[in-house]
Amino acid sequence: MTEPISANPSPLASDPAIAGHIDAIVAAARAAQARITGARPADPARQASFAQAMARTAAVRGRGPLMPYLGAGMGNGPLVELADGSVKWDMINGIGVHMFGHGDPRMLAAALRGALSDLCMQGNLASNPDSVAFAEFLVQEASRTSRLAHCFVTNSGCMANESALKVCMQRTGGAPRVIAFQDCFLGRSVTMSQIGDAAAYRQGVPLSTLVDYMPFYDPQLGARSTEMAVWHLKQYLHRYPGQHACFVMELVQGEGGFNVAPREFFMALIETCKAAKIPVWDDEVQSFGRTERMFCFEALDLGAHVDVVTVGKMSQACACLLTAEMNPKPGLLSGTFTASTSAFSVGLEALRTLRDGGHYGPDGANARLHAAFREHAARLIERNPSCFEPVRDAFGREHRNWVGGTGGMCRFTPYGGSKDRVMKLLHAMFEEGVMAFYCGHDPYHVRMLPPVGVMRPEHWGPVFEIVERAMRK
Ligand SMILES: Cc1ncc(COP(=O)(O)O)c(C=O)c1O
Repeated sequence: MTEPISANPSPLASDPAIAGHIDAIVAAARAAQARITGARPADPARQASFAQAMARTAAVRGRGPLMPYLGAGMGNGPLVELADGSVKWDMINGIGVHMFGHGDPRMLAAALRGALSDLCMQGNLASNPDSVAFAEFLVQEASRTSRLAHCFVTNSGCMANESALKVCMQRTGGAPRVIAFQDCFLGRSVTMSQIGDAAAYRQGVPLSTLVDYMPFYDPQLGARSTEMAVWHLKQYLHRYPGQHACFVMELVQGEGGFNVAPREFFMALIETCKAAKIPVWDDEVQSFGRTERMFCFEALDLGAHVDVVTVGKMSQACACLLTAEMNPKPGLLSGTFTASTSAFSVGLEALRTLRDGGHYGPDGANARLHAAFREHAARLIERNPSCFEPVRDAFGREHRNWVGGTGGMCRFTPYGGSKDRVMKLLHAMFEEGVMAFYCGHDPYHVRMLPPVGVMRPEHWGPVFEIVERAMRK
């Protein structure tokens, strides 16, 4: 498929001499990365300087990071070298950003081509054709199975969401309320941290946004869960007629615990919203690219019904996609920055690889990576039964669904989902050489967002060996 508009960040990028230099830089980087072949412990000689660097990191920020991560600026696919000389399997990738992991030659070349541009940062008043190509690419892919027609590029997932909310509010004549799922997460602005369902993320923030929370799908209840959710939604519509700007949904909940739901669940809610003329906004910032289709709405065959979709993370630059009817009046959406030229260049490379790299479908790379994850997780559970107690749900019922997620969103639930013990395990895994994170709110899960562009099913072997070692610790 040809690009609709030139995606070249600069005419210099097609100069054969410059292309030759880029190849030479990439080859030198590859040679240096070749020594990174597996997890290894920290270099004792670097421990003191690393501790100092971590202390400075905490001092300047006012608080240290959850894990003592400070990268060395080197890596090799799913492996990253830290400034203490240790090498870890990076199974979280800055919360799902780096689909090619660390130091990928394609991404390095794309970033170098981006660096040749006259502009480091692009914005709404200074766009080059590559930023238009990025937006067109997303619209072209999205519009195959939806009515999405426009794309507004932003510099974070949160700003994409702010844009989506403003568009929905304008469309509904300033309706003040938002319907959202329990355990949702939308970003860190004053408004998004109010809609997001985590009390700690809005401590001290005066509440100015009116949110009506809906239960997410409960697999234990099946169809009854859908019925109850629709009942719940109708209560809100009855209580506050004409007051809702939108229903925002993550079709796979990210922070909330990699929770999934069948199409019928979403369709029942969407139909209820449509009957009440409430726009449907699908937040795919975390799931974008990772399910069995580039867009999760496509995987669930919901494209015809979404009015606004937000994406980010693996796309490098973030975006708010809209149908023609949702296109707002001039003045509502703008901003100094859209993204850096290198982000557009790397983002386009990532998007092309997602489209053309065999990632999708029931037998695509994402599905196969997930199937291999489940096989390894099942073996882990079988070999360490004492670490996998039954998990208690919100109603106090116990279940044994210890493995979950879909595609490149993988989770398992040890220790009955106890936050304290999951956090201890994550720290032990980090020590041993695997970086992961948590998700969910009681139960808590071990969350992995592997680099789907470079992670192969056989990489799970060494990763799970380390996880098991950490569990035994
Ligand atoms: C579903 C979802 N929406 C929005 C965001 C916010 O994106 P950003 O952190 O780029 O602002 C995130 C980030 O984790 C997310 O998972």
